[in-house]
Amino acid sequence: MQPMLNIAIRAAHSAGDYIARQVNNVPNLEIETKSPNDFVTQVDRQAEARIIDTLLKAYPDHSILAEESGSTGDSDFQWIIDPLDGTTNFLRGFPQFAVSIALARQGRLQHAVIYDPIKQELFAASRGDGATLNNRRIRVTPRTGTQGALLGTGFPFRLKQHFPAYQAMFADFFQDAADIRRAGSAALDLAYVAAGRLDGFWEIGLAPWDMAAGTLIIREAGGLVGDFAGNENFMQSGNIVAANPRLFGAMLRRLQPHLTEQLKG
Ligand code: IPD
Ligand code: CA
Ligand code: CA
Repeated sequence: MQPMLNIAIRAAHSAGDYIARQVNNVPNLEIETKSPNDFVTQVDRQAEARIIDTLLKAYPDHSILAEESGSTGDSDFQWIIDPLDGTTNFLRGFPQFAVSIALARQGRLQHAVIYDPIKQELFAASRGDGATLNNRRIRVTPRTGTQGALLGTGFPFRLKQHFPAYQAMFADFFQDAADIRRAGSAALDLAYVAAGRLDGFWEIGLAPWDMAAGTLIIREAGGLVGDFAGNENFMQSGNIVAANPRLFGAMLRRLQPHLTEQLKG
């Protein structure tokens, strides 16, 4: 296995095992509100510190973009980290959250890990090597259209100005989808598309650390990831669609009529 992926896995396990041990400690945690509906605790921060410590011990010159501590360093190699994706779930004991770690070199994703410490599921990928779940190869589903699809999504609960457009997208997909899930961890939603548990996924307004690892894992599992115009701008806009290539095209066509100016990229 690639040494950098190995280090990422070590970091994800260290943070994930710590998070899992803290599940019963939630009543004692001090919960801060970063912005409306956006919470953080010392568990997010401690998990992030463990990840960064593991990564920088192995690669002291690499730079970091992490949700809680921001951007540090100046290197071609940048680790993109969400120490706890699904904090709201974690705080409620709703067992759907994960650690997400990706490595980009000159902006190109190279390695990725998403670890669910409750189910002990490790999704991983390295560029050109395919994607795995607990060391077994995973692939996106072969579904060709939205008819009968099981789709994942996230509600724009922090960007409620987009709710009317979101509602129209939802209504359109819901007409012929088998069903739609909103499980509360974008990183796991993306991992589930890669593993064929979901056929496709869309969400408005994500952050780079929600999407980076999932993007590489889906691409290595044979899927496509893009913004609402099907382009590469999702890391900037936060608007993301992901699915196998046929369904990806079908989802983009269904989204088109509902795109406001702000959602076009
Ligand atoms: C959140 C989760 C959620 C998504 C939000 C994210 P966090 O991440 O991924 O599913 O809908 O937009 O911010 O804040 O729990 O790391
Ligand atoms: Ca997140
Ligand atoms: Ca987070």
